[in-house]
Amino acid sequence: MNQALSIHPQRLTDSIQKLGQIGRYYDETLGLDGVNRLALTAADGEGRRHVIEQMRARGLTVTIDRIGNVYARRPGRKDSLAPIMMGSHIDSVPTAGMFDGCLGVLGALEIIHTLNDAQRQTTRPMVVAFFTDEEGSRFGTDMLGSAVATGRIPLAEAYALTDRAGRTVERELRTLGFLGDAAEKLTPPHAYLECHIEQGPVLRSRDMEIGVVTGVQSISWHEVTIMGRSAHAGTTPMELRADASVAASRINLRLRELARSGKFGTQMRGTMGAMTPAPGLVNIVPGRMTVTVDLRNPDDQLMRAAEADIIAFYEQVAREEEVQIAWRQTARTDCVSFDSRIQAAIAEAATRRGLSHLSMVSGAGHDAQELAHLTRAGMVFVPGEYNGISHNPREFSTTEQCANGVNVLLDVLLELAEQHD
Ligand code: GLV
Ligand code: MN
Ligand code: MN
Repeated sequence: MNQALSIHPQRLTDSIQKLGQIGRYYDETLGLDGVNRLALTAADGEGRRHVIEQMRARGLTVTIDRIGNVYARRPGRKDSLAPIMMGSHIDSVPTAGMFDGCLGVLGALEIIHTLNDAQRQTTRPMVVAFFTDEEGSRFGTDMLGSAVATGRIPLAEAYALTDRAGRTVERELRTLGFLGDAAEKLTPPHAYLECHIEQGPVLRSRDMEIGVVTGVQSISWHEVTIMGRSAHAGTTPMELRADASVAASRINLRLRELARSGKFGTQMRGTMGAMTPAPGLVNIVPGRMTVTVDLRNPDDQLMRAAEADIIAFYEQVAREEEVQIAWRQTARTDCVSFDSRIQAAIAEAATRRGLSHLSMVSGAGHDAQELAHLTRAGMVFVPGEYNGISHNPREFSTTEQCANGVNVLLDVLLELAEQHD
């Protein structure tokens, strides 16, 4: 019966395109338009206001909590039952495409639009959510809003996080008008569902239409500060240097070695995504380097071993390069498994719609992994073109790919929304 209802694919694409105009920039290197809606910037504020307008236009009641998460509710026939929540994020990395996170939020709104058009009421209420700073690119820790809502990160700790200019999350929320008054601790919804682009090559290369996400791999982020001695590049003999950039480069190469060594499994990943030298000038040996380390592994034990390895290496490099190295953990999540019944429901819904599907672990972090600590959670992936490239303006999924994922989400949602316990 549920299959009779399907979303409007072009309407979904149009709404993704529309939000994609907010924070649009021209990427010189790629010659393409990209999206920059870094969390709690003016562009993010504009995106937020636009999406809230869409929520209200669909008859939803909007609430904003104390970390700026936005929840939009549609009543159910039995309105006191816990709602089914769907959502994701609309903040972006500074060099994004239009789909990351937005598909989950706008797909959920498209589902509401479809239910409204069909005058379909559900037993349980529904909530469409978008969470603050999923990306972590500005304030240094990812899934911030959903982690506060589910209790992993205390509100005070989140408020005190700063960006590179020293501006706090609390100040930026207030400036943007998104420091809401609803309690930040979320009452557990009956279930949480999220549709997202895969952000990798697997589905597309195997010609699969739907990814049934089994869980999310472990993530560990470090901020590493290396203190050497700045000196004249022309006059300082090589053996008299304490070069912070050499130390950083050695750590970066070590990350690649450890990921490729096989010692931490075949799926180990290591990235040094940011490197900031000081003073950062052509003729000065850098006296200080601030760098980031991003480790991912789908096995908790192997992740812990990899972390121990790189931390020991920081000490080795400090000794050998005669620099001081301090590091701090900026984000850390264990592997998360999604609810097996929701996984089965996603696979069955895909089969009923004649869509091929594949079970897979998510390589990227998602709000759903935070919600999984609070309630039964599940994720649907859709394939992406160009090897599923993401965090890049070239990120692209077709109208059909997106609609397939959201239709599967709709089927699972309708099933869950009729459950009484
Ligand atoms: C979030 O996009 C991540 O870094 O996985
Ligand atoms: Mn995302
Ligand atoms: Mn992302």
